[in-house]
Amino acid sequence: MVSPPEAGVIEIQGVSKAFASQVLDRVSLTVPSGTLYGLIGPGASGKSVLLKTVTGLIRPDAGTVAVDGQDLFAMPEIELQRFRLQFGMLFQNNALFDHLTVFDNIAFPIRRMMSVTEDQVREMVADRLRMVSMPGFEDRMPAGLSGGQKKRIGVARATVMKAPIVLYDEPAAGLDPVTSQKIFDLLRAEQRQANATVIMVSSDLDRLLTVTDRVGMLYRGRLIFDGTTDEAKTSDDPYVRQFVHGLVEGPL
Ligand SMILES: Nc1ncnc2c1ncn2[C@@H]1O[C@H](COP(=O)(O)OP(=O)(O)OP(=O)(O)O)[C@@H](O)[C@H]1O
Ligand SMILES: [Mg+2]
Repeated sequence: MVSPPEAGVIEIQGVSKAFASQVLDRVSLTVPSGTLYGLIGPGASGKSVLLKTVTGLIRPDAGTVAVDGQDLFAMPEIELQRFRLQFGMLFQNNALFDHLTVFDNIAFPIRRMMSVTEDQVREMVADRLRMVSMPGFEDRMPAGLSGGQKKRIGVARATVMKAPIVLYDEPAAGLDPVTSQKIFDLLRAEQRQANATVIMVSSDLDRLLTVTDRVGMLYRGRLIFDGTTDEAKTSDDPYVRQFVHGLVEGPL
């Protein structure tokens, strides 16, 4: 008998995607339920495209993505849109709504997804703003925020639903080292508490690897490594070794 898939498991099978050139080349990867998975690799190696494929925003040319055993791209579009609501997502470019206040930006997923009172919405938003060390920013507009502040509002919005699956694309880019480490620690603590499945892309490898359970490395659209954090740190694959340890000498 086939046992049902664990809730929250993400299974990527043979995913390929080309734009002008090949961006993802037969990527296969399983992110076990309740895992914080770090996705690393040089610039333009396909990390953001892979995350967008997992949320169903980019349709691969070949291969499948299944979440909880459900094949995303076999669903009718309307069902996929509904399914996608269980994902928290932080885009690399933040993608805040410029015409909405900070409050309305963070409240957006709550209002779409949950039946809660306006008082509860206020409390949830205030809690997220405290979490990212920006209490009292409710009425500000995104245009009046610094890059790092926008990033933190993006983190607040991505986490407000306490979604069982969360994908973060560079959650700490552009933040000072202390704020960065705080964000990584908070996201890890929340992931543990909720036993969520998380994929996190970050170029800040030193900090990223303090919070990951497993790590995957993309290089020119291929997954060249998938293993535990310790295995990544001790890998003798020349590409992985050079990238993880930030060495100047090597094949990259
Ligand atoms: N919508 C698109 N149309 C055309 N090309 C795209 C599109 N999205 C991504 N690409 C190309 O795919 C490649 C991989 O892009 P991707 O954004 O996944 O890189 P990345 O690994 O996230 O890099 P970085 O670390 O710089 O964020 C790049 O060459 C990029 O130009
Ligand atoms: Mg990217």
